[in-house]
Amino acid sequence: MSADLQARIRIDGDVPRHVAIIMDGNGRWAKERGKPREHGHRAGMQAVREAVEGAGEVGIEVLTLFAFSKENWHRPPGEVKALMSLLETYVRRERKELKEKGVEVRVIGDTARLGRMTRAAVRDIVEHTRGGTGLRLNLAISYGARDEIVSAARALADRVQRGTLLPAEIDEETFAAELFTAKDPDPDLLIRTSGEHRISNFMLWQLAYTELHTTPVLWPDFTRKDLFEAILEYQRRERRFGRVAAS
Ligand code: FPP
Repeated sequence: MSADLQARIRIDGDVPRHVAIIMDGNGRWAKERGKPREHGHRAGMQAVREAVEGAGEVGIEVLTLFAFSKENWHRPPGEVKALMSLLETYVRRERKELKEKGVEVRVIGDTARLGRMTRAAVRDIVEHTRGGTGLRLNLAISYGARDEIVSAARALADRVQRGTLLPAEIDEETFAAELFTAKDPDPDLLIRTSGEHRISNFMLWQLAYTELHTTPVLWPDFTRKDLFEAILEYQRRERRFGRVAAS
C-alpha cells in the first residue's frame, strides 16, 4: 500500500524539497491506553524512524522534526527527563544506521541548555554524520522561533556595531543567513499531527509560504503512509507565493 503511494508521488509531480513536522499527540496516545505520557513519547520514536525512512525513500532533501520546544522545559521535571533520555537513546541507537544511509543530522535550537550527556550524544551524531549526501535531518531541540529571530537580529546588530555591515545592507537574505536553517531551502510542507492547527513558535520566518497539512493521526501512530498521503495532497495544491496563477 505505501509502495503504491510512493510510486504515485513520483508520477504526480514535484517532491517537496523540505518537509517540517510538528510531532504532536504523544500524551493523548498514552492517555487513551491508560499509560503515563512518557509511554507515548517512547512510542513516538518509532514514528520518527518511519518519517525519516519515508523521507529518504521519496527523495526529500531536508526533514525538520520539532522534537522539543523551548516551552517544553516548563513541563514536569519527570517528563523533561524522560524526553531528554529518549533523545539520547535515539541519537545513540540510530547513529550507525543513519550514517550508513547518508543521512546528515543537524540540531537546531539552544543546545547550551541541554544536560551534559544529552549535549554530548547530540554533538556526537552531528559529527559522525557530517558530510552525508542523502537526507538532511534537522532535529529541533530546545527550539523557539522567536528566540531564533531575536538571535539573528542581535547578530546583525553586532556586525553593524563592529562596522562590517551597513543597516541598509540588511535584507531578507542577510537575515535568513543568520538563522539555524541558513543552508536549507524554506519548508515546502509543514505537517502537524493530532488535529491541532497551530504553529506553536516553530520556524516562524521560514514558514512564510509553506503549505500546511494537519492530520488527526496522533504522532505515535504516524507512518510513512501518512507522510506519503501528505505529500500527495501537497502535490494537488497550487502554490502561488502571493502571485496570480499561471495561465
Ligand atoms: C508532543 O506531544 C510531542 C513532544 C513534545 C515530543 C516529541 C518527541 C518524540 C516524538 C520522541 C523522541 C523524538 C526524537 C526526535 C527521537 P505532546 O506530549 O504535546 O502530546 P499531547 O498534546 O497529546 O499531550
